[in-house]
Amino acid sequence: MRIDIITALPKLLESPFADSILKRAIDSKLVKVHIHDLRDYGSGKHRQIDDYQFGGGAGMVMMIEPIETIITKLCDERKYDDVIFMTPDGKRFDQGMANTLSLKQNIIILCGHYKGIDQRIREQYITSEISIGDYVLSGGELGAAVISDAIIRLIPGVLNDETSALSDSFQDDLLAPPVYTRPAEYKGWKVPPVLLSGNFKAIDEWRQTEAEKRTKERRPDLWNKKATSDQ
Ligand code: ADE
Repeated sequence: MRIDIITALPKLLESPFADSILKRAIDSKLVKVHIHDLRDYGSGKHRQIDDYQFGGGAGMVMMIEPIETIITKLCDERKYDDVIFMTPDGKRFDQGMANTLSLKQNIIILCGHYKGIDQRIREQYITSEISIGDYVLSGGELGAAVISDAIIRLIPGVLNDETSALSDSFQDDLLAPPVYTRPAEYKGWKVPPVLLSGNFKAIDEWRQTEAEKRTKERRPDLWNKKATSDQ
């Protein structure tokens, strides 16, 4: 898989890919991540990428031309399955969208800034608009890092233990059950005995019950959705 991220602030996207699971995925060539500095496509001495909005109002708008230039350049080089724009008015990102995107070959993620991007780019080039939640960030970069992380960890071979992505929270509309490690007792706080029993059927049942309990308590919306879809 290849992910191209277009941003006016490339430095913001350095560290998320420079450590841990994402770095390993890139080093082992399971995914390629290319960060493109939009200013390289800006015009004039100041490499301008934004301008005042028509009709007046506070806040600059990202211009068509630099974005069109980089998107068409990339699309001339290879076929893209999705050209995503990160925006608070996009579709709210969830695990199902991460699963779908992890099956794609090539995607572009465009990070918005300032007041937004010229609407004509959204109409002509963008195939999906994604929000990471109902709050406004300063730009799309953190959102791009969030969705890239959620996608990349699902690519086969990225996680050492292939089953661990499947047992994540949300994978079956359930939150993950509690986990414990050594010591089995600390300051009198004990690990649930079933986890030390060696009885894997009982352990699976315990985990399922705990996951259901957590989901009902913390995310009744998810629990009700699951109950409806299980019918
Ligand atoms: N840009 C600004 N806020 C955002 C959000 N909530 N999700 C995605 N991109 C954004």
